[in-house]
Amino acid sequence: MANSVAFVFVFVYLPLSSYFQAFHAMAHEWPAGGSTRFYDFKVQTMRVTKLCNTKEIVTVNKMFPGPVVYVQEDDRIIVNVTNETPYNATIHWHGVRQKLSCWFDGPSYITQCPIQAGQSFTYEFTMVKQKGTFFWHAHVSWLRATVYGAIVVYPKTGVPYPFKQPYEEHIVILGEYWLRDVLQLEQQVLASGGPAPPADAFTINGHPGPNYNCSRNDVYRIDVVPGKTYLLRLINAGLNMENFFAIANHKLTVVEADAEYTKPFTTDRVMLGPGQTMNVLVTADQTIGKYSMAMGPYMSAQNISFQRISAIAYFQYLGAVPNSVSLPAKLPNFNDNLAVKTVMDGLRSLNPVDVPKKIDANLFVTVGLNVNKCRSKTPQKNCRGMNNGTFAASMNNISFIKPTISILEAYYKKIGGQFTVDFPGAPLQFYDFANGAPNNAPNNTQAINGTRTKVLKFGSRVQLIFQDTSTVTTENHPIHLHGYSFYVVGYGTGNFNPQTANFNLIDPPYMNTIGVPVGGWAAIRFVADNPGVWFMHCHLDIHQSWGLGAVLIVENGKGELETLPHPPADLPRC
Ligand code: C2O
Repeated sequence: MANSVAFVFVFVYLPLSSYFQAFHAMAHEWPAGGSTRFYDFKVQTMRVTKLCNTKEIVTVNKMFPGPVVYVQEDDRIIVNVTNETPYNATIHWHGVRQKLSCWFDGPSYITQCPIQAGQSFTYEFTMVKQKGTFFWHAHVSWLRATVYGAIVVYPKTGVPYPFKQPYEEHIVILGEYWLRDVLQLEQQVLASGGPAPPADAFTINGHPGPNYNCSRNDVYRIDVVPGKTYLLRLINAGLNMENFFAIANHKLTVVEADAEYTKPFTTDRVMLGPGQTMNVLVTADQTIGKYSMAMGPYMSAQNISFQRISAIAYFQYLGAVPNSVSLPAKLPNFNDNLAVKTVMDGLRSLNPVDVPKKIDANLFVTVGLNVNKCRSKTPQKNCRGMNNGTFAASMNNISFIKPTISILEAYYKKIGGQFTVDFPGAPLQFYDFANGAPNNAPNNTQAINGTRTKVLKFGSRVQLIFQDTSTVTTENHPIHLHGYSFYVVGYGTGNFNPQTANFNLIDPPYMNTIGVPVGGWAAIRFVADNPGVWFMHCHLDIHQSWGLGAVLIVENGKGELETLPHPPADLPRC
């Protein structure tokens, strides 16, 4: 059939009612999924003024946040990305499983070379059996700081939500904003060997809100009708912080996490790490007024400086006095680990799920920070980490170093020298990870560098245990896996102990980013049925820059439907 061309450029800051109605007006003409949707993304710089400061930021189509991609389950998405900036760019479609389309996944030097200045690349993939709230973001350096936007995938026509149809839907993207150039900032932080400075502001849909300087009118607002129920599509696109989110006097009912339905779970607040999305229902059942929606820090690590001012948006009832002060939202303390656990405990798949019971590949992977010895002749400049060392991060004590061409290309074309296949299935040394990790920095806290991958047979049933370590500090790490969703079958504090660990094999949540508890562990399971090269990394960009990642290579199976197709002709060159 003829492909329908849908340029649905809708701004998150428009009143959503108008575009939601527009969507419904169109929806009945659409076939039940399986359409093709085209988008044009121009990566462009734009001058913006925030916090009394004007600077140039990188955007898509001069929008911040960027354009929303609206599609339906099983639709094909074609996005032509043209890079009109002087910087390298790629776009990753976070949470999209990219079944047999690994070439279009987007992480730089993993599945593709960056799109260089003036070049373009067309991403083409299908939302196979996926629906819900996703997002896209740049996947090179720290460009994600301003290059991000939502992907909303509606169910097929005629398929209702498994909850009462909300009156309206709104996208709420949490972000972090820097006054400095983020690409330079990454370079400077890495060159210094020291920690990353905090963001200058948290933002909700790009707006810091009234708690920040010069931002009284730089605030996002949802106008609500008393008595109606709203669906908020929460997305954490932030760079280096995990965040709590709450609305004054209103309960949130979680109905979806990482684009998979959950059993409804009602709570006063939620926590999202970067890379996580969550749909919540909110009913405007309070007295007419103006209420704060607040985004604040969740910081589980020790001795790290971070932004403490909450970003505020308004949840404003029709009929409220416009200039009235808003009722403040109650956020947990920044280090409230119990609040985080409570949210995790509440996440259950809506229906019973098919969790692999037998395991073919059982991996144990430590995640954490390191301090390497100073190798610079100017330590005052370059060794500003703990005890005059340089900070690093690792999985199984190996810091991931990016190759010079993409691993997928090297793997596919059998080009040697880019990566090795010896990522260990367990740490080289066992010790009391949670409480007794080596901490005599930089003497026993070094990591090994490498571009190591783990090769998995097609169809193998995989269990991965992530274990946080206490070198430098324990910390909650949002670990993201490309190419898959996984069942979060268990988690806990302390060291993982197979004898005492309690697994939920009935209705665990099906996620793509798991916050490994601070000083604890998380267990995930999935079937490796999507061939390709898949990045697995901490979604805190500073940790990723320091090497907290590894790559899983899933081999082809038999036949066309289990084999990765050829690369596209316009695949960028390095
Ligand atoms: Cu959302 Cu590898 O990223």
